Amino acid sequence: MNKIILWSVPLLLLSSVSIQGVSEALPDKQAELFTSPKKPTDSYLPVRSLASIPKGEFGDKVRMGYQLFVNTQQLRGQYVGNELNCSNCHMDAGRKANASPLWAAYLAYPAYRKKNDKVNSYQERLQGCFTYSMNGQAPDNDSPELIALSAYSYWLAMGGLMDQYQVAGEVPELSDKALVLGGKRDDFSLPEAIASAMTMDERAKLAGRGFPAIPKPELAYSPERGAEVYKAHCQACHGDNGQGLAIAGIYSLPPLWGPDSFNWGAGMHRVNTAANFIYENMPFGKSITLTNQQAWDVAAYVTSKERPQDPRLTNKGVADLAKQYHQHQGYYGKAVDNGPMLGSKAYPVNPDK
Ligand code: HEC
Ligand code: HEC
Repeated sequence: MNKIILWSVPLLLLSSVSIQGVSEALPDKQAELFTSPKKPTDSYLPVRSLASIPKGEFGDKVRMGYQLFVNTQQLRGQYVGNELNCSNCHMDAGRKANASPLWAAYLAYPAYRKKNDKVNSYQERLQGCFTYSMNGQAPDNDSPELIALSAYSYWLAMGGLMDQYQVAGEVPELSDKALVLGGKRDDFSLPEAIASAMTMDERAKLAGRGFPAIPKPELAYSPERGAEVYKAHCQACHGDNGQGLAIAGIYSLPPLWGPDSFNWGAGMHRVNTAANFIYENMPFGKSITLTNQQAWDVAAYVTSKERPQDPRLTNKGVADLAKQYHQHQGYYGKAVDNGPMLGSKAYPVNPDK
């Protein structure tokens, strides 16, 4: 706890520094997922109770993955450079349908990426969220952390499939090498009852994956109108400056922008991704109560605030990076309300390094 309090001091000092140049090229590991609207007929994979995680070495990996996912701050200063936990966005410990659940994600990797003509494994996708959503430095391939997070995801996915298709018994154990690849592969071994019920492509597109797409707004989204929505529906929890709420250095309500939140490379900085997430999952405890328009407007407001730099920035500058990586619905490289160009006063990447 002391450590967390100490770290906030350099954060404050550094927050006035403008662009942090990071020269090494980072691959784009946080590309936009395909999204589709929710259907009334959707039914979701059942999730096993955490109490049923088995004893023994494999169960210990699953448990460690769960622990890292809900208390990612234990990796602060090492792999995490902000005040978030994975479960702040992947809610209910990565189990909630329509809050990008891990059980659906696991079965969608390895995934072919047209953009770099490369296949991304599950652990590479996990690394993407460390680099951008957690504003940190991702653990290495095959590290205990990525193996544990993969084991937890696999256990949720396979346990859910087994329960759905009434396959009895414990989730079969997998080697570390196999765990980090993900479940969308021909050689992924599955009980016959599951393999014959669903194709690999169907398993990779389970209902509840990602955040459901909401319709386009009637009026073009507006940060100005969003500010009003924010005051009325968000500020009580997330603070008047999006800073969240920490008690004795531990955040109980996560920051939405500023130095302690996700960076400009994270998926949540896109207006559409944030709108989809917010409509479905916020206000916490009262979700699906905003109008479609309110969700878009407040998403525009939240994503038009300054946050930690996109770690892919080079000495060519913000405008160049915006051209290369930000051809989507987002404010990086743009100015709002005659303010400075967003990204030009960004906070540090991975401030603890
Ligand atoms: C600030 C919010 C946020 C945080 C924190 C966050 N993520 Fe993500 N994550 C996202 C978004 C947004 C996506 C892309 C989902 C989409 O576009 O629908 C994503 C995608 C993923 C995916 C792929 C999902 C899929 O179905 O393909 C995995 C796996 C994942 N994150 C794991 C993690 C892990 C592990 C952590 C913590 C180390 C983490 N995330 C922290 C927002 C977040
Ligand atoms: C009752 C308190 C509460 C209200 C009101 C609320 N939130 Fe949240 N919000 C939370 C909590 C708690 C989490 C983390 C969820 C978790 O860890 O399970 C969260 C997470 C988030 C996240 C993802 C994590 C991050 O820090 O980026 C976003 C984005 C977000 N909220 C936006 C909003 C918006 C926009 C509104 C208003 C429409 C809103 N919230 C209203 C409590 C609240």
